Amino acid sequence: MAKTNTTYICSQCGGQTSKWQGQCPHCLAWNTLAESIQEAKPSRFQALAASGQVVRLSAVQAVETPRLATGMAEFDRVLGGGLVGGGVVLIGGDPGIGKSTLLLQALAELSTRVKTLYVSGEESASQIALRSRRLGLHADIPLLTEIRLESIFATLKEEKPQVAVIDSIQTVYTEQLQSAPGSVAQVRECAQELTRHAKQAGITIFLVGHVTKEGTLAGPRVLEHIVDTVLYFEGDTGSSFRLIRAFKNRYGAVNELGVFAMTDKGLKGVNNPSALFLNRDEREAPGSCVVVAQEGTRPLLVEIQALLDSSHSPNPRRLTVGLDGNRLAMLLAVLHRHGGIPCHDQDVFVNAVGGVKITEPAVDLAVAMAVVSSLRGRPIPHKLAVFGEIGLAGEIRPVQRGQERLKEAAKLGFTQALCPKANLPKGRIAGMEVKGVGSLAEALEYFRGL
Ligand code: TYD
Ligand code: MG
Repeated sequence: MAKTNTTYICSQCGGQTSKWQGQCPHCLAWNTLAESIQEAKPSRFQALAASGQVVRLSAVQAVETPRLATGMAEFDRVLGGGLVGGGVVLIGGDPGIGKSTLLLQALAELSTRVKTLYVSGEESASQIALRSRRLGLHADIPLLTEIRLESIFATLKEEKPQVAVIDSIQTVYTEQLQSAPGSVAQVRECAQELTRHAKQAGITIFLVGHVTKEGTLAGPRVLEHIVDTVLYFEGDTGSSFRLIRAFKNRYGAVNELGVFAMTDKGLKGVNNPSALFLNRDEREAPGSCVVVAQEGTRPLLVEIQALLDSSHSPNPRRLTVGLDGNRLAMLLAVLHRHGGIPCHDQDVFVNAVGGVKITEPAVDLAVAMAVVSSLRGRPIPHKLAVFGEIGLAGEIRPVQRGQERLKEAAKLGFTQALCPKANLPKGRIAGMEVKGVGSLAEALEYFRGL
């Protein structure tokens, strides 16, 4: 075997050193250097001789890449319409959340139409067979239990599957590196090699990735750069729903959300998830406000709950679940300065019900309303839906797709809506009274009149 040179690459800035050091000499981050194989440099002559061919954009024939549907509608939705040849999809999530189950189901569907291969480094063949039977999957999926990359490659070349699953990338190792399976260097090297193979052979490869305690994919951030699509399972493991979100997608929209229900027969897609996060108590309680969020390409109604309690600490607590904590601190400051509502002596807890994470600022107005409602001990009417971004000057900013959000709320039986003035619909929305506000003061005025 040819001698391979090792080099050390920083997982934060990508800088290289020839020796291992505790601190990256380029970005000064600690413990980020990881071993990697150095690629053979082309000789000077090659570098000079190989000039690239320039093409004009207008001369390029743009062909829509054909999609291979997995047959699971919600999964196809997060993938951007189905699988793409040469595409590599990374699926991350907590242990036991259903990664293997989802992929086994998808392969069972796919294997009736194309050649597939399931490579497992975590479970034995009999474990997988048992699960497949329990899930009632009748398809005969080719299975390989192997963790050596070289051997996986040989099998991929021989079997020539159209879709392959590697469960999980952290168990795979290459003999070219000395470090243990699961180490940063091994994970990256194996992912890179597999990606190269996927592109060359035009096949789709799913990589299952473990997440660390902090909730990010184990291995370097560069893993996310190597692959084409990154999907994460989110939501709490305690609930019977599973959400899959596209964090990066070269072939589709990011932030697209797929919603599944967990059953003893595996994951089942939920067609109309809007109402899923709304199973509310019939009583109206203070501190609860419904937001019309937009996750990916569809609106989603989510209940926001806030609880304020007088604090005995000089540093009152601010806690969010499913929402951005810094954004809450900002909203409390805006409420104080532009709404005259002080919360500095209150512990503030805010929760997006149902385990869904909301990242867009359109949730601001609903959070502010829930906070005020809890502070005042006055409930917000059940049939009111709210959305809008709050700016630092206390202005209510418009958000994307206002019309669609209002329509979705009306469809679910909401009769009142509070939204940014600029998002007011041109026509009437049947069965719904829409109030547009331009500033926080106007929104608080509206709340007082409810
Ligand atoms: P599994 O797919 O093994 O999780 P991961 O690969 O992410 O670690 O799922 C964990 C267990 O949950 C497994 O024993 C099967 C079970 N399960 C169901 O019974 N129904 C379901 O819909 C899902 C998703 C999982
Ligand atoms: Mg698994």
